[in-house]
Parts: sequence; C-alpha cells; structure tokens
Amino acid sequence: MINSEGSSGPVAQVFRGTFIHSTPQTALQVLEDALLGVDSAGKIAFIGKGENVLELSQKFGFNPSEVIKLAQHEFFMPGLIDTHIHASQYSYAGTALDMPLLKWLNTYTFPVESHFKDLEFARKVYTQVVKRTLRNGTTTACYFATIHTDASLLLGQIANDFGQRALVGKVCMDRNDSVEHYRETLQESVDETHRFIKELLNKKYPLVKPVVTPRFAPSCTEALLKQLGTIAKNNNLHIQSHISENIDELELVKNLFPDSETYTDVYHKFNLLTDKTIMAHGCHLSDKELTVFRETGTSLSHCPNSNFSLCSGILDARNVLNHKVKLGLGTDVAGGYSSSILDAVRRALDASKVLTIQNPEYQTLTFEEVFRLATLGGSQVLSLDDKIGNFEVGKDFDALRVNVAARGGPIDLVQCEAPKILLEKFLNLGDDRNIVEVFVAGRKVVPCADQTVE
Ligand code: GUN
Ligand code: ZN
Repeated sequence: MINSEGSSGPVAQVFRGTFIHSTPQTALQVLEDALLGVDSAGKIAFIGKGENVLELSQKFGFNPSEVIKLAQHEFFMPGLIDTHIHASQYSYAGTALDMPLLKWLNTYTFPVESHFKDLEFARKVYTQVVKRTLRNGTTTACYFATIHTDASLLLGQIANDFGQRALVGKVCMDRNDSVEHYRETLQESVDETHRFIKELLNKKYPLVKPVVTPRFAPSCTEALLKQLGTIAKNNNLHIQSHISENIDELELVKNLFPDSETYTDVYHKFNLLTDKTIMAHGCHLSDKELTVFRETGTSLSHCPNSNFSLCSGILDARNVLNHKVKLGLGTDVAGGYSSSILDAVRRALDASKVLTIQNPEYQTLTFEEVFRLATLGGSQVLSLDDKIGNFEVGKDFDALRVNVAARGGPIDLVQCEAPKILLEKFLNLGDDRNIVEVFVAGRKVVPCADQTVE
C-alpha cells in the first residue's frame, strides 16, 4: 500500500479517512482509515494506513498534527470526468428539448452558437459553465466551443483561471445549409484550427489542451475531414466528434458519403480514429464498427441524458464494454439538460434498466460499474489515465471531498452506514451540497474565493 515512487517534491497536504475509487480490476475499492499525502506539485506522494501515521510522517516529513481528518459520513473519491460537453450550449441548458437531433441543431443550436462571435457573451457563458461544472464536481471536462477561435481561446483561459482540467475544441464545420452565417470555408476552418492550436499551446496552461474538433461528418466536407486528420496526426493531438447518435443522422451520412460503407468508415478513412479520439453517443453502432473502435483505440462518450432528451436512442453500454472499447460518461449539454456527471450516472443506470425491461436476460450495469465510468473510465476515454482517474501514487490529486450528511443537503442518514452504502446514496441522491471540496492537481478549486455563479 505504501509507495513513494513517482512523486516529486515535499509532502504539502495529508488527509486521513475513507477513500473510494476504482481500479481496472475492481469497480469499487474502499480504503478505510487511509492516509494520503499530496506533494507540492499536486501529485499523490503516498497512500498508507492511518494507524501508521507516525512512521509515515517521518518517512515523508510532515507533522502529524497537520493531518486533515475527514469526519464521519465523509469520503474522498476521484474527480468526475465529463468526456463530452458543449460549453457554448450552456445558456439554453434545460430548455429546447422538443425536437429530434437534426431539427434541434438547425432550430436552436446553430443560432445560439453563432452568438459566440461576441466575446463578452462568450465570457459570460463560459465563466458560468466552468464554475457550475466545477461546483458539480467535474474536475476534467472535454469541451466543444464554437467555430470562433478567439472565443474558444477564452474558454481555455477561463478553465485555466478557475483551475479546471480541460480539453478545448474549436469547432470545425464547412457545411451547413440551415444557418448560413454559422459556417466556415474549408480554408478558414483549417487556418483557424492551426491558429487555435498554436495560440492555446503557447499559453502553456498546465491543465488545458486543444482538441481537434470536426463537429460531425454531416457538417464537414471530405476535404476538411482529411485535413483535420492530418493536423491531429502532425501535432499528436486529441480528436473529438459525434457518431451514430440518431437514425436520421445515419441516413444523412449515407447520402453525403456514399463511398463509405459505414459511419465509422467515414472517420476511419480520414485518420480520425486514433487512441486519442473521443466519439460521442454511438447509440446505433454495429458490432463491426465497435470492433474498429477497439482496434484503433477510439473511445466512446456515453451521454444518456441527451440520448433520452432528444429521443436519439439507447446506448448498449454493456455491449460496448464487452467489445473492450474505452467508455466514459458525458453530459452533452445542452442536448443533455444537466451539467452534472452525477445526473449522467443516474441516466446511465436508467438506460441500462430500460434495456433490462426490454430483455430480462440483459446484464444491467451496476452502480459500481457506472461509478468507474464516471471516474477511471473517463480518464481512459481521454487517454489521461496515466495522470488521473483514481488514487494511485504518482497521479495528480483530482478529488472530491464528499459529505453524505451535509447540513441542509438532500440526504438524511438514520444510522451509521458503511462506505459503499454512503457512495451509493451520494450517487443516487446527492448533489453539489454534498461536494464540500473539489481538488484539481492538489489545488482546492471549490470552495474558491469567487464562488458565486454569475
Ligand atoms: N451532432 C452534431 N452537433 C451536435 C451537438 O451540438 N449536439 C449533439 N447532441 N449532437 C450533435
Ligand atoms: Zn454533443
């Protein structure tokens, strides 16, 4: 249990109490009365037993009186990871859920996104979404912005300023017949993607990185998809997009790309499926397509709130896991109305139960498995599992301090409960009132000095 390999610098913070996390082998591992040290670089320096505090304090050079002790009903868990969220759609989250995907995009989404040309509007919405998601325990977010480079750079700056770990994508689309001014030319899209990557990397934000973002195949010409595949490869960057979300979308892709056998082939042909690619939805992927995902290392973001809200489909998450495709959770704001990954946990369980109602033999996901999707699974989806996702020595300390019995909170505890029960209650009944502190790379980002959401 005790291991000091991989950490750097002196121990800066030490916590004692219950830690709950996942490993690749075990969906739920509970460490009771554990002692966890974080070094000055925000990395986990050691994990040991509480009873060994004196010995550990000598080995790692901390004062036992400075150890922060968790109260009863409290535990630490890894930070929640949102593998797919449209920061630019936060302004209308909770509304406009009365249409199927393609009509929804043309009616609500493209007109709203076109407003992000206005940097002051962008600043307002992006500040709100970063603060709100942090408050909800999202320590890492994989964001879509809009086609506007300067506003997308601003989103990166705001995430950095508030201390959120983020992948940020300037959206690329050179095909859009419905909202004419919300479209780029091929050359603009390529040039602005280059500028976005260069300027964001030049900022040297420690936790914020660019992600190449073709919106989805129907919004892009083959020429653009090809160039984006090359840009991602040449710069070793992440890629994100949407795939197989809704049946009408599949038909559209067949018509627009008649030479490709499947939707997956469209992206594969242009080198857009890599071990750093995150595709959202995938409700209607065939087993053959999932095999291509597995072979290329492409991962899937499960966005159940959006899939229900836009009546897109139900992802068979068990089948995805059986194909050994990396899987995490996404809110897909604003197709999904909630910006909380706790909501995504509940909707993922609901989706699995709907499939079980349809087929009683179905192997329903357990809450432990969905907890893993929300944490370690998300880190694998973003290819960040060497840095985050669980409590391992050498990883960054991205964590939530949860108080299940928080005063004024939504959960009543009648008696003392075991940690596993506390986690289950938090996942099913909890909200931000139970998330008393949020840490990203060892820095406490909630509560922070400026905590009111504007
Ligand atoms: N497919 C292409 N763009 C979008 C989007 O903004 N939201 C969702 N849910 N699907 C998309
Ligand atoms: Zn989306």
